[in-house]
Amino acid sequence: MDQTRQLMRDAVPLLLQWYRVCKRDLPWRRVRTPYSTLVSELMLQQTRVEAVKERFVRFMQRFPTAEALAAADEEAVLKLWEGLGYYARARNLHKAAKRIATEGFPQTEVGVRSLPGVGEYTAGAICSIALGLPVPAVDGNVLRIITRLTADGSNVGDAATRARIAAELRAVYPPQTDAFCEALMELGAIVCVPNGAPACGACPWNGLCRAHAAGREEAYPIRSEKPARRVVEGTVLVLRRGNAYALEKRPPGGLLAGLWQFPFFEGAAPDLGRTIAEKRAKHVFTHVEWHMTGKLVEADGRPLPYIWATAGQIAERYAIPSAFKAFAEWIV
Ligand code: ADE
Repeated sequence: MDQTRQLMRDAVPLLLQWYRVCKRDLPWRRVRTPYSTLVSELMLQQTRVEAVKERFVRFMQRFPTAEALAAADEEAVLKLWEGLGYYARARNLHKAAKRIATEGFPQTEVGVRSLPGVGEYTAGAICSIALGLPVPAVDGNVLRIITRLTADGSNVGDAATRARIAAELRAVYPPQTDAFCEALMELGAIVCVPNGAPACGACPWNGLCRAHAAGREEAYPIRSEKPARRVVEGTVLVLRRGNAYALEKRPPGGLLAGLWQFPFFEGAAPDLGRTIAEKRAKHVFTHVEWHMTGKLVEADGRPLPYIWATAGQIAERYAIPSAFKAFAEWIV
């Protein structure tokens, strides 16, 4: 057998043993259903474990089953998602719940992959964690720990590299698919970390790891430079009229699709009244950065194409993305 395959095989039991002892107590690891795994894995996409913990518990209390979520209206789901970002996930989860409520939870890799919002990584996580299927979930963490273990100098930005590593993992998958999948994630999260020194002294692979043997842990993974993010200059108006504030719905496609926002203008904003306060804020998305000037404005009398909501109504009903958080502080 090829030496790398043998190395990966040797690594599996060490990792499982380490995970049994060292795994973190996280809310989604306590009581599990396929549906709860779908919820946690969608929440964990692009979002830190710490930020998800409490939100997951709250979401499961409110919508404990796919049927309960399927019966909710979309605004309520978005409101509960407020602040987590990437709101398309909430809409996809809602759609997936409707499908699951009528058809049942899919039982195959192809079926899981066909759920809205479930890409290759999330399908791997759900199949492994909830369905006992040996489907690898390969993200940046897993690429890092495997390229270090095997001293693999290929560019992890290439789809071919990722596919090869996924195939290697698939070939060594043990019967404990749930523990294996989460153990890989766990090692990347708490031991074999990306920035700063990895905790090699605490690593179950420290006698096997080729990068560690060469003292070159931090040389892996190899990754080509990412393209720079586009910068958008914009103006956000927190328009006040009496005790109500103007809100508009974003367009149905693209960034923050269909969510509520304070009137937003690329570049400068038209003069719609008297400016009371002004501040700058920045929000970084995956591919774009918004550099914003926010203005609190006492609107003059002209008709405007917005809805008007009080502070109480905004808090209860309208999900305002975190990008506008700095300006939401003006709402009282
Ligand atoms: N990141 C994505 N899925 C995760 C999980 N199940 N546990 C910890 N971190 C994760």
